[in-house]
Amino acid sequence: MKILVIGSGGREHAIVWTLKKSEKVSKIFCAPGNPGIAEIAECVNLKVEDIPGLLVFARQEKIDITVVGPEIPLSLGIVNIFTEAGLKIFGPCREAAYLEGSKSFAKDFMRKCGIPTAKYEIFYDKDEAIKYVKKQGAPIVIKADGLAAGKGVIVAMETEEAVIALEEIMGNKIFGAAGTKVVIEEFLEGEEATLLCFVDGKYSIPMVSSQDHKRVFDNDSGPNTGGMGAYSPAPVLNKVIENAIINKILYPTVLGMHALSKPYKGVLYLGLIMTKHGPKVIEYNARFGDPETQVVLPRLKTDFVDIILATIEGNLDKLLVEWDSKPTVCVAMTSKGYPGKYENGKEITGIKEAENLGDVVVFHAGTAIKDGKLVTNGGRVFGVTATGKNLKEAVDKAYKAVSLIKFEGAHYRKDIAKRAFNR
Ligand code: AMP
Ligand code: GLY
Repeated sequence: MKILVIGSGGREHAIVWTLKKSEKVSKIFCAPGNPGIAEIAECVNLKVEDIPGLLVFARQEKIDITVVGPEIPLSLGIVNIFTEAGLKIFGPCREAAYLEGSKSFAKDFMRKCGIPTAKYEIFYDKDEAIKYVKKQGAPIVIKADGLAAGKGVIVAMETEEAVIALEEIMGNKIFGAAGTKVVIEEFLEGEEATLLCFVDGKYSIPMVSSQDHKRVFDNDSGPNTGGMGAYSPAPVLNKVIENAIINKILYPTVLGMHALSKPYKGVLYLGLIMTKHGPKVIEYNARFGDPETQVVLPRLKTDFVDIILATIEGNLDKLLVEWDSKPTVCVAMTSKGYPGKYENGKEITGIKEAENLGDVVVFHAGTAIKDGKLVTNGGRVFGVTATGKNLKEAVDKAYKAVSLIKFEGAHYRKDIAKRAFNR
C-alpha cells in the first residue's frame, strides 16, 4: 500500500515511523515532512493547507490511504474533499473536527450530552464578558473560540489578568477571527492527562494513557508551550478513573456526535483533568497529540494500517488493539527562547550516538538541512523517546540520549515524568 502522511512535526515523524513497521506498506510519502522523516519516507513539497495540491498528488500517485496529522487541514475539510473524490483518508470530517475547531461548539455539545466539563458562559460582546469576569472573580479561564495555534487559552489567577486577556482577544483581536467569540469558564484543579482514542463513527477503542508537560520550565513554571515532553502510561489514570472516562466521556461523545449526524472518525484526543469530583474534559482535539503520539505509538503492537482501515471502514469492533506494557518517555529539546523568539540555523550533532544507545528514537520536529548539515529550524527541535522495562529506566535512557545531542542554546525540562514518581 502507498500511504501519504500530512504534516511536518514530531507527531508526524512518529506516525511515519510506526507505519513503516507494517508489512502492508510499500511506500510512504509525507507532505511536507522534515529531515528525520526524509530518512524513512519520501517528502513532498506541499503545504498542509494546500488541499487541492494534496488531492492532485494523492490521485497521481494512487495513494491508498492518507493520514492527517495536524488540525488545520481537518478544519479546512480535507476529509470531506478526499472522501467525495473516492479516496481513503484517516481523520474526522470538517463537521466532526469542530469539536476542536470551536470551543463553544464543544462546550454546548458537552452540556447537551451531560459530559463532565468546567461550567462556562459564551460571550460575543467584550463589555459583557468583562462585566461577567468582574462578577465571578479569579481564578478564571478565558478561551478564544476558534483555532489559535494552542495559544488561545488564558488561565487568569487575577481578575485584572482576565480583563487584559479579553481586551487583547476581543478588542485587539490578537488571534484574529478566533476572538469574535470567547468561552469563559470555571477554573478546575487537578492533575491533567491525555487519553487518545480510535473512533470509527460508532465504536471506539482508547489507546494507552499519557501525560504532556505544557510549561516551558521545570516544576510547571514559565509560559505554556506546544508540549515539553510526555510519558506513557500516566499512573493518574488508574483503572477506575479510566473506566469513568470511557463510560462518562468517551462513549457519550461518540454517541452524541452520531446523534447529531456528525459521526466522528479518526483519533479523538481527550484532554482531561482529574478533579475531586472525578475526571472532566479540558479540551477535545480532533487528532493525535504532540508530543503524546511520540510516547503512545511506540507502544502499539497491532499493525497500525489494520487499525486505520478498520477506523475508516467502521470495523473497529472486530479488531483487538494490543500494546506493549513497557513504558515510554519523550523529552522535547527546544531552541533557546522558545516559546518566545528564537534563532534558527544552529548546527546539530549526536543523533546517531543517541539512537545507538538502543530503545531510543529521535523524532524530528524543527530541523532542516543547510549546506549538507542538520540545523535547527523551529521552537521544538526534537522529541527524544526512550523505552524501558520500567519508567525509571525509560527516563534515564531518554536523558542519556538527550545529553549526547548538541546544538547551541538547547533547552529541555529535567523533570519529565517526575509526577509519576511523586505518586
Ligand atoms: P488548552 O489549550 O485547552 O489545552 O488549555 C491549555 C491549558 O490551560 C490546559 O492544559 C490546562 O492546563 C489549562 N486549562 C484549560 N482550561 C482550564 C480550566 N477550566 N481550569 C484549569 N485549567 C485549565
Ligand atoms: N499536546 C497537546 C496537543 O497536541 O494539543
